[in-house]
Amino acid sequence: MTVNGRLREADVEATLRLVDLLRNRFGLTSVKEGCSEGECGACTVLVDGKAVTSCTVLAFQMEGRSVTTLEGLSDGERHPLQQAFIDNDAVQCGFCTPGMILSAKALLDANPSPTEEEVRRALEGNLCRCTGYLPIVRAVLDGAERLRSR
Ligand code: FES
Ligand code: FES
Repeated sequence: MTVNGRLREADVEATLRLVDLLRNRFGLTSVKEGCSEGECGACTVLVDGKAVTSCTVLAFQMEGRSVTTLEGLSDGERHPLQQAFIDNDAVQCGFCTPGMILSAKALLDANPSPTEEEVRRALEGNLCRCTGYLPIVRAVLDGAERLRSR
C-alpha cells in the first residue's frame, strides 16, 4: 500500500484494523481512536481520496490502495486547512481535528466551492465534543477560500 505517498509493506493478521496498522506499526498517531465503531469520525483517513473510518476497515483490504493521514497533508508547511482551523479557533482538545480536516479535504478535492450546507453534510460523520461546530464549519469555508486563491 501507499501511505502518505510512500510505499509501505506489512504482514498483517486478517483481523488487524487499519487504525491499528497506522497508529501502532507505522507510528501515525494523528489517527485517533474514539468510539471504535464507525460513529465518531476521529479515526478518519483518506483511502484513494475518499474519507473512510479506519476503525471499520481491515488493514489487509488496503493492499494496492493509497492511504493519507494528516501527517501526509503538510510538506514542512501547514496545509491551508490546518492553518484555517487554527485561525478560526476551530480546535480545542484537538482529538477530532485530524478526522475533521481529512473529511474536509475529501470534500474540497471534489468540490472546491462548497456551500455551508455542503460542508455541514460532509462533516456529519465527525463528532466534536468541545469546540462546537460553528468555528469548524467557518474554518472549512475559510480553508476552501485559501485553497482556491493559491
Ligand atoms: S474511532 Fe473510528 S469512527 Fe470512532
Ligand atoms: S476539539 Fe475536542 S473533540 Fe473536537
